[in-house]
Amino acid sequence: MKLLFVNACMRGKESRTHQLCMDYLEKFLRAKKEEDWQIEELDLNSMDIQPLTGESLARRDFLSRDKKFDDDEFALANQMIEADHVLIGAPYWDLSFPAKLKTYLERCSVTGLTFIYSPQGVPEGQCRASSLTYITTSGSAIADFNFGYEYIKGLCCLFGIPRTHFASAEELDIIGNDIHKIMTSTKDKITDIIDEL
Ligand SMILES: Cc1cc2nc3c(=O)[nH]c(=O)nc-3n(C[C@H](O)[C@H](O)[C@H](O)COP(=O)(O)O)c2cc1C
Repeated sequence: MKLLFVNACMRGKESRTHQLCMDYLEKFLRAKKEEDWQIEELDLNSMDIQPLTGESLARRDFLSRDKKFDDDEFALANQMIEADHVLIGAPYWDLSFPAKLKTYLERCSVTGLTFIYSPQGVPEGQCRASSLTYITTSGSAIADFNFGYEYIKGLCCLFGIPRTHFASAEELDIIGNDIHKIMTSTKDKITDIIDEL
């Protein structure tokens, strides 16, 4: 079984979001039979993924038309399809997440691979994962502006991933806040998510 960890924590080990993801992975492996799971991590910060352009889109469409889905162009989409569980860790940036994550998701979102259209024009997700967890941390409160997670939930509908979970540690940049307490309470929420999986 494969757990795909999409690491969009741009600050590496300094990242509080990354700390929460490590907590998640540790608890996940403890709760499941560890030897049954293989973790595949994508460290987006160090990956060279480019947004689609007119030229690269034309190339992709050409490959899709010929059903050349084993081309490297589709490696990220194929990896997403084959994952049994997905963890995305991304800091809350500009009301959503770092642009590199959007670029990655653009590369995953391929008609004919991660989703197909039925003869009636209804999208049908092709991903194997039964659930996806999204972890974030933010400087202030997220409140009604949870656009990153809302977008991920929408993509999960498209990709055919039926269940999503969310954990956040918020208000971490507010001077005087007890960061340890906020992080501990988010780790408790992570424990609850793992129990639900
Ligand atoms: C480029 C950038 C954009 C940010 N945008 C927001 C924002 O819109 N709202 C907010 O509450 N915090 C914002 N923050 C603060 C981060 O969400 C916060 O510091 C978070 O904990 C960083 O995560 P990390 O420790 O995993 O890097 C931003 C930080 C950066 C660097």
